[in-house]
Amino acid sequence: MLKTVARSIYGDLPELIKDPLGSFQERARTPAGISPLKLGRRQAYLIGDPAYIRHVLLEQFENYDKETPAYEAVQLVLGRGMFTSHGPLWKKNRRLAQPAFHGHRVQRFGPILERISRRFAEHWERQCRQGEPVDASEDMMKITLEGVSEVLFGADISESSNEINRVFPIILRNLAFRVTRPIRWPDWIPTRRNREFREALNSLNRIVDGLILKRRQRLTEIEAMAPDARDLLSTLMLAQDEETGERMSDQQLRDEVMTLMIAGHETTANALTWVWYLLDQYPDEAERLHQELEVEIGNRAPTVADLPRLKRLRMVISEALRLYPPVWTFDRRAIAPDTLGTTKIAPGDLVIISPYAIQRNPAFWSDPDTFRPERFEPGQEEQKNKFLFLPFGAGPRICLGQSFAMMESLLIMATLLTKFRASRWDSSPIRPKPVVTLRTSAPLLLRLELKNA
Ligand code: HEM
Repeated sequence: MLKTVARSIYGDLPELIKDPLGSFQERARTPAGISPLKLGRRQAYLIGDPAYIRHVLLEQFENYDKETPAYEAVQLVLGRGMFTSHGPLWKKNRRLAQPAFHGHRVQRFGPILERISRRFAEHWERQCRQGEPVDASEDMMKITLEGVSEVLFGADISESSNEINRVFPIILRNLAFRVTRPIRWPDWIPTRRNREFREALNSLNRIVDGLILKRRQRLTEIEAMAPDARDLLSTLMLAQDEETGERMSDQQLRDEVMTLMIAGHETTANALTWVWYLLDQYPDEAERLHQELEVEIGNRAPTVADLPRLKRLRMVISEALRLYPPVWTFDRRAIAPDTLGTTKIAPGDLVIISPYAIQRNPAFWSDPDTFRPERFEPGQEEQKNKFLFLPFGAGPRICLGQSFAMMESLLIMATLLTKFRASRWDSSPIRPKPVVTLRTSAPLLLRLELKNA
């Protein structure tokens, strides 16, 4: 009896809370390519067939919006920025922001990222000379936060970076809790959890609002600058819709800035942490990378111009994104009735996609749990169907920052690997921990060795 009541309230949530990655992997492998599940009282379907994924993310993308419990929780932080909004609001803002993120335009952020990577290499060198470990998980978070912040705000906001790094894990923890617990204390009850969430969010809001306000005060000066000399915040502030000539409202700007700041650092930081982890686990692969860097770069600090030649490094990063996709799952809500294979999807049903599960499905990837960067050599069969490799999503809502993230990842890794060899400091087990993004279950401490000591 109790079991039946619990099931009617929680549905399959207990299974998902216990082992979300294992459960999604198993469900995604069903021969039907679609697995029904109940999230509380909501009907949901996990889809693992690339044809269904293509249908939802590309062919019928307008029928699938982001009004889902997971995205609603994220909205508490990001508001209705590009990541969470849909329909005309999403379209308008994506159109405004897109030009700044085109492959060749992101190159103009190269010098900022080069400078920050070198600064971090100096910091690592100091740690190394003192015989101290570095915490790769924390440092990757700091470096990518500084990267996206400088690109957005121009000025160095490192004075706020400690505070952002403090509050951010609190916010993520709370979001994960909200998504997986249909029954919890309402927000207005001052439980410890509610209070710490509110306090963390207020702190983040104060930082972002302060930065926007400062910029508004310099708007005339910025309007006189050449477009390429402007940082991203100024570009967004001045961008005008081609059709209506409108600019973004203050609220919209706040939401987009928060979106770019958060979507733009947490994900890349996780990806890079996993690259360090994998290079420790596969020393032969690390050696091949060191050889590539020796041939292509030598002793100097790499620049953005070097990146197209670092083919092995690009393959290694792609393979890390396959094994540990930072956005390990995302979902949609059906607006109108639809059909996937023989399954009828009703309005309001949720459709879930798990890059983690798809990218480790043995039906599509040989020896899927093994790190094998050759899979990403040009022309390899395994990565020909783009609906099987989804670290950045797919279709019109594919990640806006994909080119930026790849450029930044290549540059940071190339800069640090040119100077250091790294291995794990301790041997405590590390597992993937699915919070909102896929983090490591424990800090990844590295022992560094200077290559040219
Ligand atoms: C390795 C790093 C990154 C990964 C794995 C990643 C992953 C993703 C994924 C999977 C989506 C699609 C989610 C969905 O369809 O529901 C997405 C969307 C998005 N990402 Fe990223 N992302 C990364 C870096 C970045 C960066 C650096 C930025 C910005 C500077 C960024 C900004 C965005 C935005 C604005 C969207 C929403 C796009 C839209 O809906 O139109 N991301 N990202």
